[in-house]
Amino acid sequence: MKTLSLIAQKGGTGKTSLSIHLAVQASLSGMKVLLVDTDPQASATAWWKRREEATPELIQCRGENLPRVLNAATGQGFDLVVVDTAPHSSKESTACARMSDWVYIPSRPAILDLDAIGASTELVTAVDVPARILLNCCPPATRFGEPHIVTEARQALKVYGIPVCEVAISQRAAFSHALIDGRAVTEFDRKTKAALEIDRLWKTMRQEMSL
Ligand SMILES: Nc1ncnc2c1ncn2[C@@H]1O[C@H](COP(=O)(O)OP(=O)(O)O)[C@@H](O)[C@H]1O
Ligand SMILES: [Mg+2]
Repeated sequence: MKTLSLIAQKGGTGKTSLSIHLAVQASLSGMKVLLVDTDPQASATAWWKRREEATPELIQCRGENLPRVLNAATGQGFDLVVVDTAPHSSKESTACARMSDWVYIPSRPAILDLDAIGASTELVTAVDVPARILLNCCPPATRFGEPHIVTEARQALKVYGIPVCEVAISQRAAFSHALIDGRAVTEFDRKTKAALEIDRLWKTMRQEMSL
């Protein structure tokens, strides 16, 4: 069983949206997946309650109870645990990072978000867990390739010493629309641009995490 946490001290970077999409994608690929919602705002839980499918499974818990949840999940045959975390609590985020095999730090490519990422990268570096920064809400690539703002963000993020995931997730209405009735973009139409991005992200992550 592997544990993947989505951590960012800043709110609104896509922790919940990406946790949900990755957990669904892992389920669709045949894994037994547990999504753990450690955020008191409980957005992932609200999504899950609107959902008709039984997978991925979801449990709500406080960060401090994560060891117990992971212990129980090990005995229940889960292949992957995806942990959605709350912003603004470095203590809880550090505890989650410590219990993870991998951490992904979502960030928007805008300068204010890039400026704010230091708190998250420091925390993750201190724990010494394998990590990637994941650019989210990016302008979509065009026929000329990746937009400048994304390329520049990759450049600016080099100072933190944490590799940036080669897949950047675009800002697309589908990512929020899909969540309205408890689904993920890949459950509507696997051929949409949003679905193809998530599929590519999942395949890349799966390879990186040796899943
Ligand atoms: N790639 C995306 N495209 C469009 N909207 C997005 C995307 N990622 C996140 N959002 C939207 O941005 C807002 C914040 O995302 P959320 O996943 O709740 O972030 P966090 O959990 O880090 O606070 C939500 O309204 C969500 O629907
Ligand atoms: Mg959230």
